[in-house]
Amino acid sequence: MKNKKIREIIKKKNKNPIVCLTAYSRTISEILDKYCDIILVGDSLGMVLYGMESTREVTLDMIINHAKSVKKGISKSVLVVDMPYQTYRNKKEAYKNAKKIIKSTKCDALKLEGGKKIINIVKYLIKKKITVMGHIGLLPQSERGKFKFKGRSSFERKRIIEDARLLSNAGVFAIVIECVEESLAEIISKSIPIPTIGIGASKHCDGQILVTDDLLGLSNFSPRFVRKYFNIRRMINKSVLRFRHDVINKNFPSKKHIY
Ligand code: KIV
Repeated sequence: MKNKKIREIIKKKNKNPIVCLTAYSRTISEILDKYCDIILVGDSLGMVLYGMESTREVTLDMIINHAKSVKKGISKSVLVVDMPYQTYRNKKEAYKNAKKIIKSTKCDALKLEGGKKIINIVKYLIKKKITVMGHIGLLPQSERGKFKFKGRSSFERKRIIEDARLLSNAGVFAIVIECVEESLAEIISKSIPIPTIGIGASKHCDGQILVTDDLLGLSNFSPRFVRKYFNIRRMINKSVLRFRHDVINKNFPSKKHIY
């Protein structure tokens, strides 16, 4: 079931670029809400926030707790939540967990990684009136070893185009395309009627998403597809150093900070 906000996102296809970012907490979603069309509670939080080796360690409870916090900071953006690894292995499991996430977080949609392999699960969720966002190309939940961009071989390209077509026909409202070769992202974006949201997938997508910690320079992650808009680590370093000096020199707290 697609609510009004979701329908507005779909209408942006070929008209207005869609702005998406990740958030893991209310502090950040409160700031992003004004500027974003979609805020994603991505399972990237496992690696970015918890220092995990992969997104596969993220649990249902983790994503729900972060999504609850993020929801508190949102008044206008669409809230999408990732379904963690192994929480949608079959229709029954997917539906049970999807209902739990939606009920606890009041999110607008769920994102699942994969195309053909999970198409019957996606169809089932949509039949049960759950709004789904697709995710194709590089799939961090399935990837083993170093992340590499997709679309080198014609076999891989055909498979990814087929994934996009199947998901679009199944009724997902948008598809994240992660780390694919430029012309492949263009072909997909032109061949399906729903928005594509790129991450490392060129400007041919209908919208762009980045991990907020990456664009702010809070994470140490600098892949080619990230543009760093700030170096927040440097600002934190400076501020914490000043705090340290103030404490050591007994300049903090001053009169105005005490009761
Ligand atoms: O987990 C995540 O943050 C994501 C985005 C990078 C698309 O899936």
